[in-house]
This record gives sequence, structure tokens and C-alpha cells, in this order.
Amino acid sequence: PVREHIRSFCIIAHIDHGKSTLADRLMEETGLIGERDKTAQYLDRMDIERERGITIKAQAVRMNYRADDGEVYQLDLIDTPGHVDFNYEVSRSLAACDGALLVVDAAQGVEAQTLANVYLALDANLEIIPVINKIDLPSADIEAAKNEIEEMVGLDASQAIAVSAKTGQGIDELLEAIVTYVPPPRADPEGPLQALVIDSWWDTYRGVISLVRVMSGTLVPKREVRFMATNKVFDVLEVGVFAPEPLKLTKLEAGEVGFLICNVKEVADSKVGDTIVLAEDTHCEPLPGFKEVQQMVFAGVFPTDSNQYADLRDALGKLTLNDASVTWEPETSDALGFGFRLGFLGLLHMEIIQERLEREYNLDLITTAPSVKYRVTHRGGDVEIIDNPARFPEAGDIETIEEPMIIGRIQLPEEHLGPVMKLCQERRGIQQDLTYMTETRVQLTYELPLAEVVFGFYDRLKSISRGYASLDYEHGEYRQADLVRLDLLVNGEKVDALSLITHRDNSFLRGRDLCVKMKEEIPRQQFEVAIQAAIGGRVIARTTVKALRKNVLAKCYGGDASRKRKLLEKQKKGKKRLKAVGNVEIPQGAFHAILKID
Ligand code: GTP
Repeated sequence: PVREHIRSFCIIAHIDHGKSTLADRLMEETGLIGERDKTAQYLDRMDIERERGITIKAQAVRMNYRADDGEVYQLDLIDTPGHVDFNYEVSRSLAACDGALLVVDAAQGVEAQTLANVYLALDANLEIIPVINKIDLPSADIEAAKNEIEEMVGLDASQAIAVSAKTGQGIDELLEAIVTYVPPPRADPEGPLQALVIDSWWDTYRGVISLVRVMSGTLVPKREVRFMATNKVFDVLEVGVFAPEPLKLTKLEAGEVGFLICNVKEVADSKVGDTIVLAEDTHCEPLPGFKEVQQMVFAGVFPTDSNQYADLRDALGKLTLNDASVTWEPETSDALGFGFRLGFLGLLHMEIIQERLEREYNLDLITTAPSVKYRVTHRGGDVEIIDNPARFPEAGDIETIEEPMIIGRIQLPEEHLGPVMKLCQERRGIQQDLTYMTETRVQLTYELPLAEVVFGFYDRLKSISRGYASLDYEHGEYRQADLVRLDLLVNGEKVDALSLITHRDNSFLRGRDLCVKMKEEIPRQQFEVAIQAAIGGRVIARTTVKALRKNVLAKCYGGDASRKRKLLEKQKKGKKRLKAVGNVEIPQGAFHAILKID
């Protein structure tokens, strides 16, 4: 089609507001998928994504739509991740769009994470079409949702399209709105080739597949192209689109989104945000906005059975072929033996990777509590970046410690304001702003240490606001703080994998709470287990796990067999993810006890 008939857009929505359902409905309406394919949810490729309801990888589908004006339009829908951990990926997929559907649940209203992505979309100059979804629900309040969009987002919502992705109501109108309001690409077909890498992943049969948008020129097979970030040259083997199955094409023209297969062997050679140009073109400028991804959260990963070390290494090798945003290097722990230290984009990313390692590679793992990257200046003046509390120098060697900060935006109903502000203060937050979004909804802005957010902040926020507060954040600067290393001793032995960094002012409280939580997590053993917290060799708190006395089955009063079986099964399950440290069995939960402290 000519460029005037291309519409490239994405969907911005809070989790559960119906992005995937709407995408499926658009594909169905344009004849791309049949009724019976609906449960497949094409935009969510991986099982884990489906189970958790989170879209991790950006994907794109091409649809053809005959509009009321009789013309056929090519609609390129680009899927974007919906979580703050993947903000950079979001910004790159937005850079590949000309418009965005802002989907708001008619019964829920606007949420903080939606706002963050709307700002990214406005920065990228996208035309935003407000869409009110779930209007079939009895609790739907279209006018209230429109008001929120106007007040909180500052967009004119009078033209908002009311739809039900579930029943299909309003979908025709939405397709017409996409054709009318999303502008055609500004891309120049006569210019030199410039293609933006939106995403890339590993395919067992084809090697690395890159999802690209051609911003200028034409991408054709059998030409040599250069990836500017790595300056590597590859042959173009194949180009095509997803409809939703892969469809081979003879070219991708300026303004079009599609896939590119070269003989790239590693995902790291096709970086998100990179610019692809013709190999012979040495004068071309890269497209703006490229960044190397930065890991923010680090954790040790160890096999519970040390015989699985080689398997873990192989699994990490395979997994990182596909996800270049995870870093890994060998780590040795006195307590846990041989493992790896992994770097993640954020906490959710960490959980996803652990889950994939266990599920897809059938490993049984212990992960340590997450840590951030500290900047430590030694007495002699040397500066060291340390992402592992176990590697922290002794206090006497440290001149200053700096830690990474974030700027967090929290939205919440007014009635929870008091407890939420208290939580932010306890987490060493500095308030920067407090704005009423509506009469009853407040947005708080705090500068917070990333480490404090990593330690279960989000769960606490959710629980004290009964689920109504939402958080999004961006990374800020490094700031000096009075931090100390808190060590945990189990039966007198320091367990290096349990050490953590905390502020001096709350180190006593943390140490005490941690001992209490550890006691709950460590099962009774044949002997007494002493748990101690220490700072610089000085013990500050202690709890004891009493020795095991009676048989668990004694509790069942000898009766009900099914109950007995249940109990035994429960025990069996509890056996997984136990690691023997010295002669004490420590379960996974104990390593994450810090995340459960209030
Ligand atoms: P993530 O993938 O987690 O970001 O969620 P999502 O925004 O893609 O939401 P999804 O499409 O998975 O929908 C969330 C839930 O809302 C599902 O249970 C859907 O069936 C339901 N849902 C989506 N659209 C509608 C609608 O128009 N009406 C009703 N009643 N339910 C809907």
C-alpha cells in the first residue's frame, strides 16, 4: 500500500484493563484470527506471560481493514510491555508508532502506570485516542472515566470511543477512529535505509529475529546491513510481517513494521533501540534515543543441588540468548557454594527469570535477597561499584557509600494518605510533591532509595492501601548515605548469602525483625538453631528455632487418611528449595525474609 494507507499504533493500558482482549478483538474484526483462536491471545507468546497476565516482549501484528471510505488500510499494531521494569523497551516501541490507544477500564479509571506510559507517548509525539473499555460491566461509568482522562491526563476525552472488547460493541467505531486520527507515517521512502530495532529474540530454527520499523528507505533481502551500536555487518536473509503467523515478504518499506532475519547469532548483536543501515552507508546518523540497558537489581542464584551447577550454567546461556537484558557471572558463596550473580532490570524481571529457569529448565534454585549497586569510596580514595553485600569491605575501610535513588509517583485515594506517607518516611523517602488529581485522588512524588523499594515496598504499599495505591518510578541520582552491612549468623556461622546493606538508623530494628521472620521461615530441625544478626561483629539480635519434638502425623489424631496424605504431600512440597548450610536446612523463604519485613 502507499504510505498514506499505513496506520502504526500501540495500546497503552494498565494491567487488566483489557489490552490483550482488545488486540484480539481488533484482529478478529479485521479477519486475522477466527472466533475459535481467541483464547490463544496472540500478543502474549510465552506461557508465563499468559499465566501472570503480563506482556513482556513487544510484538507486532499487521491487519488489513476496509474503512467506510472504501479504501483498505494497513494497520500495524505494536504491543508494548506494561511494567515499569521495561520502560526503555516501551519507549522504543512507542518510537515506532504514530498513534496510541489509551485504554481505560470504565469501572476502574486511570492508574499511575498508565500515566507514565502516556507521558512517554506524548514525548514521542503520538496521536492519542482515548478508549473506554468494559462498558458492558454494570459498574461501568463512562462519564467518570472520561472526566478522569481529562483531569489526570489532560487529554480531550469528548471524542473518547466507548467499547467492550468482550462483546465487540464499539469496535467498528474504534477502527474508523484509528484510520481517521492516527496520522500516516512521516517516514521517507526515498531516503537512506534507517530501521529501528523494536525488539529481538532468539528462535531455535532461524537464529535472532529482529522486530523493526523502517523509518527511511527500504529493507530488502540479499543486501548487507550494519547494526550501528555494534558496528557489525550481516546479510539480510528474510523480511516479513506477523499476520499473526510469520509471513515472508519481498521488502519492508518506509513506515512499515515487520521482522528481519539476518545471520545474527546473538541477541546482544541486535540491541533494542539500535539503528540498522546499509553496510556501504558510512555517513548515516543513528536514530535518536538509543541506550544500553542497565541492570538495576542483582541477586545470587544457586542450585539447591550442587550437581545442577552445570545445568544452571547451560540454562543461563540459553536463556540469555533470548533475553539480553539479564547479566550473569559466576559467584561463589561460602554458604551456598557455586552459583551465579544475575543482574535484572527490576524485581518483576527477577521473578520472571527465576520462574523461567525453574520451569523451562527444570532446575531447583535458591535466589538470595536482591541488592542494588552501591558506590563505595575506600579510605585510600579508590571507588568501587559493589552489587553484592557479601563483598562489602569492612567498615574501617570505607570512606563513603552512595546508593541509587528513584523518583517514585504514587497515586492513591485520599483516605490512605496518612499511612502511605508514613511508609515513605520509614523508607527514607523525601517528599517532593503532593497533588490532588481529583477531589479524592492524590498523587505523591517521593525521592526514595532504590534499595528500600526493592525490599518489599510495593507489597506494603498495596496492603496498606487495600490495593488502591499504584506506583511507578524512574531512576534518579546516587546519594551518599550512612549504610552498614548487617550479617546473619546461623548457629554461630556467618551466612554470607544472607548479608544485607541497611541504613544505620534502622539497622537495629531491621536486625530484630529479620531474626523474627527467619525464625518463622526456618523449619524445626533435630537440634536447636540460633539465629543472630550482627553489625561489624557485634550481635544486635537473636532468636531460636526450637528442636523438633514430635512427629507431624501425631497432629492428625490417627484418624482421617486423606488428611494424612495431604499433610505428607505438603511436607514433600516444603522439601523443595531447601539448602543445607552447614548442618542446617535453610529454605528459599528464609533468603527472602527481608522482603517480608514491614
Ligand atoms: P495484561 O496483559 O495483564 O496487561 O492485561 P490486559 O490489559 O491485556 O488485560 P486482558 O485483556 O488480559 O483483560 C483483563 C481481564 O478483563 C480479562 O479477564 C478479560 O476477560 C477482561 N476484559 C477485557 N475486556 C473486557 C470487556 O470489555 N468487558 C469485560 N466485562 N471484561 C473485559
